[in-house]
Amino acid sequence: MEPLTDSFGREIKSLRVSVTDKCNFRCTYCMPAEGLEWLPKNEILTFEEIHRLVRVMARMGVSEIRLTGGEPLVRRDLPELVRMLAGTRGVEDLSLTTNGVLLDRLAGPLVAAGLRRINVSLDSLSHVKFAEITRRDALDRVLAGLEEAERYPELRPIKVNCVAVKGFTETEVPALADLARRKPYVVRFIEFMPLDADQAWEDDKVLTGAEVRAIIEERWPLVEIPAKPSSTARRFRFADGAGEIGFVNPVSEPFCSTCDRIRMTAEGRLRTCLFSRREWDLKAPLRAGATDAEVAVLIRNAINQKELKHRINEPGFVRASRSMSQIGG
Ligand code: 5AD
Ligand code: SF4
Repeated sequence: MEPLTDSFGREIKSLRVSVTDKCNFRCTYCMPAEGLEWLPKNEILTFEEIHRLVRVMARMGVSEIRLTGGEPLVRRDLPELVRMLAGTRGVEDLSLTTNGVLLDRLAGPLVAAGLRRINVSLDSLSHVKFAEITRRDALDRVLAGLEEAERYPELRPIKVNCVAVKGFTETEVPALADLARRKPYVVRFIEFMPLDADQAWEDDKVLTGAEVRAIIEERWPLVEIPAKPSSTARRFRFADGAGEIGFVNPVSEPFCSTCDRIRMTAEGRLRTCLFSRREWDLKAPLRAGATDAEVAVLIRNAINQKELKHRINEPGFVRASRSMSQIGG
């Protein structure tokens, strides 16, 4: 089949699949304290439906699948989905983004099912600050989850993602950078984006990658490592050789021009940008009996209308209608 190319010539290689909108954390940059109204179970794609859509997209050249949520590990039997996707022709890279709280139990089954890469969110190494930002007292369980992941050498790299929020993250940077030096984890700082349900995002709450880097370099000089053009992260190694740090700077250094990603929400809607104002329902046609060829036409049509770029930094920027947990990071 012809590759999936959008109207700006970007070839779509990567799909993020949200397997649930539910989460057991309430990170302030994502969810409200009281949670959100969860989707009813019959609205959520089954594993078979996800597998089918992935098969169709893999035939069109999508080779990278990332499972996300909400919190993907709260979806029952997730290793079974991993097993189904890992065995799909064309899927070369299968990874998972998690808050890590259930990882101590699930790392083994996930690796056995074929998972080879993982991203764990971790915003602070202080119990008090961790509880402040996630609204859950779960730091020790996340660290235990990371330790468990470390026991499987097949599961590499282990990436640790930290959302950098001005006025909160500055003090956390040295300990997180030190974690990257002490442990086989690539620690990555991600700029805070306007995807929080509370709508508290403002541009002066973004702690930029450059600002975080300056804090790290007060203590440890960094050397940039060349990255793939489609990569969202700028990578650095510590000049003394110990460990790697990354910066994902969607606000201060947008990477839309090389974006090769699309997203599918838990209820089966395709999103061509985190900041899309429009979604493309695939579940209804699927459940109405559409053929693979018909589904492929719908996907191509959506990709054809993929947005040129986000407009976070432009006057009149209109927020996405949904939070990160409802879209899928
Ligand atoms: N801005 C940036 N990153 C976010 N994430 C969740 N909400 C936001 C936001 N508003 C991150 C999580 C996780 C990934 C799925 O997305 O921390 O690492
Ligand atoms: Fe849950 Fe991830 Fe949102 Fe935190 S950022 S509330 S862990 S979905």
